[in-house]
Amino acid sequence: MSIKNVMVIGAGQMGAGIAQVCAQSGFEVLLHDMNEEALQKGLKNIEKLLARNVEKGKMSAEDKSVTMNRLSPSSDLKDAAACDLVIEAVVENMDVKTNIFRELDQYAPKHAILASNTSSLPITEIAAATDRPDQVIGMHFMNPVPIMKLVEIIRGLQTSEETYESIKAMTDELNKTPVEVKDFPGFVSNRILMPMINEAIYTVYEGVASPEDVDRVMKLGMNHPMGPLTLADFIGLDTCLYIMEVLHEGFGDSKYRPCPLLRQYVKAGWLGKKSGRGFYQYN
Ligand code: NAI
Repeated sequence: MSIKNVMVIGAGQMGAGIAQVCAQSGFEVLLHDMNEEALQKGLKNIEKLLARNVEKGKMSAEDKSVTMNRLSPSSDLKDAAACDLVIEAVVENMDVKTNIFRELDQYAPKHAILASNTSSLPITEIAAATDRPDQVIGMHFMNPVPIMKLVEIIRGLQTSEETYESIKAMTDELNKTPVEVKDFPGFVSNRILMPMINEAIYTVYEGVASPEDVDRVMKLGMNHPMGPLTLADFIGLDTCLYIMEVLHEGFGDSKYRPCPLLRQYVKAGWLGKKSGRGFYQYN
């Protein structure tokens, strides 16, 4: 199946990035958010990033305007009627996602593939909310999307070979590297990354070291490009907590229990970089 028109649902840090790379690769893109302010902010961020690429000589001014012209805002999920592929990137919450997929299933054309950028939630369960479970798949981009090369492609139990092949080919067109993963909690990336971040939060919670020192140990000692707490702030502490909860529930193993300090920060609205405060403060 050839994909030309793409709709991205959620104009947050991931959705805006996905919309940007799709538009840069020649796809016509509708960017949707239920929040008009978030939608405008998402589009503005894309424009800013492209302008920076032009300044650095990585992109011509003409390519920038061609890319921007391929992007259109959408305030109505019914716009999915014009799309071959919908990529959902809203908050990491099963009820919110299944409601969206149920609606999309009504509006999107019969041939359309419905993908989720979920970090950890079961694709099999999201797919079961639709009448086209064979055309539902996970497309897990990494943050920041324009820079990171990997896309984990998650096959739900019902995902067809045709759907998988179309999404694999589309990922190649985005100039990203697809890696096939089965549908188990956290897939591969977050099953390994999140327990490390959670453990880093425990070391702060137990007073073993300050956030700065925890990050310093992992950067200088393990050669990680970014410390785990800086990374957690960057991902969003709410998203980190959701993923730990999915691992904890999905495997039923206490080794995945979310650190109480992580819960407390999320309750305080300290969500990391996006809210101005997490383990660090941001202007
Ligand atoms: P975000 O909080 O930056 O953006 C989410 C956006 O979705 C917001 O603009 C919000 O207004 C919108 N939204 C919420 N409910 C909606 C609805 N019912 N209809 C339309 N729009 C709605 O979140 P972020 O970080 O972009 O994460 C989105 C998804 O991507 C999550 O599933 C997350 O797990 C996944 N993800 C996140 C990564 C990260 O590093 N933050 C990395 C890879 C995947």
